[in-house]
Amino acid sequence: MDLKDELRSIAGNHVFSAKEEIIPFLSDASYFTGDEPIAVVVPGTAEEVSKIMAVCSRTETPVVVRGGGTSLTGASVLKGNGIVISMNRFDHVLETSVEDKYVVAEPGVRLDELNYHLEQFGHFYPPDPASSRAATVGGSLSTNAGGLRAAMYGTTKNWVLGMEVVMPDGQVLQFGGKTLKRTSGYDLTSLMVGAEGTLGIITKAILKIWPLPETKGRAVAYYKSIESVGEAVSELKRLGITPMIAEFLDRLTMNSITRNKGLKFPQDAEYMLIIDVASTRESVERELSGAADVLKKFGPIEVTTTTDSGEMEVMYEARKGAYASLLTERERSTQRVVIGDIVVPASKLADTLKESIEKMKELGIHSGLVGHVGDGNIHANIYADLEDEDEMERVEKFQREFGAIAIRHQGSVSAEHGIGMEKMDLLIDEFEGKHSLGTLELMKKIKRVFDPGDILNRGKLLRR
Ligand code: LAC
Ligand code: ZN
Repeated sequence: MDLKDELRSIAGNHVFSAKEEIIPFLSDASYFTGDEPIAVVVPGTAEEVSKIMAVCSRTETPVVVRGGGTSLTGASVLKGNGIVISMNRFDHVLETSVEDKYVVAEPGVRLDELNYHLEQFGHFYPPDPASSRAATVGGSLSTNAGGLRAAMYGTTKNWVLGMEVVMPDGQVLQFGGKTLKRTSGYDLTSLMVGAEGTLGIITKAILKIWPLPETKGRAVAYYKSIESVGEAVSELKRLGITPMIAEFLDRLTMNSITRNKGLKFPQDAEYMLIIDVASTRESVERELSGAADVLKKFGPIEVTTTTDSGEMEVMYEARKGAYASLLTERERSTQRVVIGDIVVPASKLADTLKESIEKMKELGIHSGLVGHVGDGNIHANIYADLEDEDEMERVEKFQREFGAIAIRHQGSVSAEHGIGMEKMDLLIDEFEGKHSLGTLELMKKIKRVFDPGDILNRGKLLRR
């Protein structure tokens, strides 16, 4: 039996190989194009996934597993002569317990869908990457997604209690569980979070949930200098104000949002800083005026506050759609938006932002800067023409330098988008910077223990 027939004997007519059927699986939200798969399989049960993996393991067939395809680093496209497994049919919320504070979801559930479901219980799942409408539970666990609310709630890793995993050889294993604490041996659940589909396939996830905050409020400041943004965020932190979100946008991004969404910003503002607080009504009022006082200390053009949830929602969605807005403004079909994604400690933000902007100028990089500055995360949304060799070289050089700035300030080259195919050299830079290349060797050994045949997401994350 050839491979396709074997896959059909397991997943029936959920195996696709005609050109027009596999085209959607050749790309993700990054600028990488994947190799053409032998087949795309869309299994419906963990048992099917297990059987598929047993076949792929025996035939040494590379496998890439895919959720919403929103990877920005090429983590969800295939490298090599293999297959794509799409988890789209794993789209059920299986169990919700308010008392025990968990939800059990399948990996193909979209994050916004999960939160619509939890809303009826007065709860939510805090990780909220900008792509939450399309991104899935499985994909966001696999990149340890961060997003806007990580400023208060931390990233995905803080919200995963356990999971069911199909190993590359087809074994079905349970990691972690339904309790909020446990010390039962190595924490394999955490190891899977951020593993970018290189160690096993998540077929079920047990996630921690939290009561929805009673109310929210927002303070917005516009500044002329980037130092003001960094210093204001550091000062908020020093004073013990923990915003739910702290986002900044530059002029280029504001202009793009104006053109795409019709939102207006003050003419002379170079930077916008959005601070949301979330808590009980009394605390929100107090924190909001505290935050506004801090924002006023750093020479703003304007500071406003609001508790109007409709108004807040419109800007929140516009910020989440910043990457998409910038994408719509590409001038040529060969142009892409490449994303830098660094993180530094809050106290290093002002210097990091300043140095990054200087580097952009020096290398002639055309980029919109945004960031989840509440946790020190900065994105550079860089316009890059794939067919312009000189520009691509400068973009690559900038990405390396952007990473180097983060490393110098004790940060990381990847905050929330993962490594994928894009940042493998940056990952080496980071551990070289820490004089700890042995850490990468340890990671390679772990990969070999989980996946001795190197069939899961080959060619990603770690250089051989
Ligand atoms: C954002 C995505 C790109 O923050 O992470 O817009
Ligand atoms: Zn982001």
